[in-house]
Amino acid sequence: MDDATGEPATAPSPQDDVRDGLLPVLRQRWSPREFDDQHVLDPGQVDLLLEAARWAPSAGNSQPWAFRPALRDAPDWRGIVDCLAGSSRPWARQASLLVVNLSHVYVEGTDWQFSEFSVYDLGQAVAHMTIQAHSMGLACRQFRAFDLEALTRLLDVPPHWQITTITAIGVPAPAAQRDRGTSVRAPSITWPRE
Ligand SMILES: Cc1cc2nc3c(=O)[nH]c(=O)nc-3n(C[C@H](O)[C@H](O)[C@H](O)COP(=O)(O)O)c2cc1C
Repeated sequence: MDDATGEPATAPSPQDDVRDGLLPVLRQRWSPREFDDQHVLDPGQVDLLLEAARWAPSAGNSQPWAFRPALRDAPDWRGIVDCLAGSSRPWARQASLLVVNLSHVYVEGTDWQFSEFSVYDLGQAVAHMTIQAHSMGLACRQFRAFDLEALTRLLDVPPHWQITTITAIGVPAPAAQRDRGTSVRAPSITWPRE
């Protein structure tokens, strides 16, 4: 981290001038792999995170998302942790909150697609929640490293819904460091200029 700005330290690049104009929350967001396992979120903060997702745009305002939050050590939490892969369990279990992110894929009782954009819209809603979390001094790591079938059974997910990802949310542990390479971004997006 850069001590002066609190942002991830990155090598200078020609895009730096442009990056300076980003919202601070976008510049400073990163996905930790170590959380403070003593930090506790209160239910009001969970409500606020879910509310941020709720106000995301979606195709035809279809809102094809659902969220199953579990605070660390709450009754649902242990079962979710047991479904995590070995690569995610060590840090995800430290997080104050796990949110299982679901997309509405079929019209109930049919094989008709609910919306062409269900997963796309879920991603936007999770992005809203992520940015809200970072603006509250929290950090998030979204992940797919879990046993999908086991988690689907555990949460009794109906067949027209699909678990897509989980978000681990909490306060980064003091020693948490950004993964090597994740501050690297593909070259800036080009577009035809006059
Ligand atoms: C859909 C999705 C799935 C992801 N799955 C995993 C995962 O299974 N394990 C993991 O450690 N990180 C996972 N990540 C986190 C990304 O690796 C991380 O966001 C990326 O490396 C960029 O780093 P940054 O978020 O710190 O900028 C996932 C992120 C997204 C959006």
